[in-house]
Amino acid sequence: MDAPETVHRGFANRETKLKGAMYLLGIDIGTSGVKALLIDTAGRVVASASESYPLYTPQPLWAEQDPDDWWNATCKVIRRVLADSGVAAFEIRGVGLSGQMHGSVFLDENGESIRPALLWCDQRTAAECAWITERVGERKVLETTLNPVLTGFQAGKIIWLRRHEPENYARVKQVLLPKDFIRYRLTGASATEVSDASGTALFDVPRRDWAYEMLNALELPRAWFPKVYESPEITGRITAQAAQATGLAEGTPVVGGAGDQAAGAVGVGVVQAGRASVSIGTSGVVFAHLDAPQVDAQYRTHTFCHAVPGAWHVMGVMLMAGGALQWYRDTFMPQESFDTALAEAEAVSPSSEGLLFLPYLSGERTPHADPKARGAFVGATLAHGRGHFTRAVLEGVAYGLRDSLEILREMGLSLHQLRLTGGGAKSPLWRQILADVFGQPVHTLQAEEGPAFGVALLAGVGTGVWNSVPEACAQTVRLADSTEPNPAHQPLYEAGYAQYRQLYPALKPFF
Ligand code: XUL
Repeated sequence: MDAPETVHRGFANRETKLKGAMYLLGIDIGTSGVKALLIDTAGRVVASASESYPLYTPQPLWAEQDPDDWWNATCKVIRRVLADSGVAAFEIRGVGLSGQMHGSVFLDENGESIRPALLWCDQRTAAECAWITERVGERKVLETTLNPVLTGFQAGKIIWLRRHEPENYARVKQVLLPKDFIRYRLTGASATEVSDASGTALFDVPRRDWAYEMLNALELPRAWFPKVYESPEITGRITAQAAQATGLAEGTPVVGGAGDQAAGAVGVGVVQAGRASVSIGTSGVVFAHLDAPQVDAQYRTHTFCHAVPGAWHVMGVMLMAGGALQWYRDTFMPQESFDTALAEAEAVSPSSEGLLFLPYLSGERTPHADPKARGAFVGATLAHGRGHFTRAVLEGVAYGLRDSLEILREMGLSLHQLRLTGGGAKSPLWRQILADVFGQPVHTLQAEEGPAFGVALLAGVGTGVWNSVPEACAQTVRLADSTEPNPAHQPLYEAGYAQYRQLYPALKPFF
């Protein structure tokens, strides 16, 4: 009888130690790489580490990653933040997980991944999405998930596997979102949380639970889908095996966390009505907090559960924002740094002397929901040099984000405080272009660490550092400075935006 008691006593000691533990770990499994961020309970950054992994495009418009690459890179970055900070594993009070949304990780009966994961930016599932919509009924889909079934979302990927790789489909025992696969490796628990589950197209967003009727209609076994938590809730604890792999202490709690967009919003304090954020990562997102579910009448934006319990959010998503600049630099000026590219763009006058860029390099979600949409430069003349092309890319992305902002404005949301986040927010030039194109000030944050920071805060809420998500943000998130629109630029950008709006309908026949 001794053994169980010893185990119990050990656990109790661990809980006592945890009460004094003063650090929180956030992990963000992104598209280009994973980031681990260690903060203290005052919200100060103690250490961070990143590690990249490949993205595979076996066919045009396909996008896949190997979940084991995520796991190996995650182990490395956790070990690195522990080593760099000198923080002992038992001093970490809780772990929060974030990541690229919508992807599908297919696991077999041993919990091993069956094939590479299909990602959020994969566009192969148009036929499957149409079939799901027909099978469930469009009205039912919209009422339940508050969104149309889009090609990026998880549901279409599962049906694709059933249709195209039946031998793989026959082996499926679990379908997880990317960050929830890492949770499974860390804790052994099959769990998700409401914000990321909202992006599967299989989730009842108003009720914050799986859409059982839809699962039935699509003949998808309930048992494949993980248990759902609110974002700050503890979903499991670090196992002995994961402790060995990562250097974390066995028993450390892991909270639900959030999809990268909701996590990023928490990280910049968009946790109450009236606040919104604009993020420029690979994708570009305009995100607003909602106290109750509310949709765009044409469903051009996504309404999902927020990482704040009992709250929702609405967001417009463009697929390639920072990703468009990255593509442009890699393709047209691979020898040059981003700084050089941005300096050349700065030397060009606002609206790039009439050169326009359509950023739909990977199809588009908001506002067109069209996987066939394509990118374009329009209006080039002999007078345009490389700086014009670079600036046109920055402006095209800003116009694309304005499309989302206009929809949120039409929904009657008050968006008086726009907080900028993501790699794109680091460029003063891009910030000025955004303020000019939006016609309103944009604000930056003091510590801008993205989704990993948001989920570290959620880990603090789940382990009792703060009583609520808004309280965590109030104590840790500080505005840095703001960029005002330049009245001299605005007429040029108003005219540029009007032209930009005409490009997609005009070019659609070519896509
Ligand atoms: C949000 C979305 C992207 C991905 C990758 O809907 O698709 O933000 O989460 O970052």
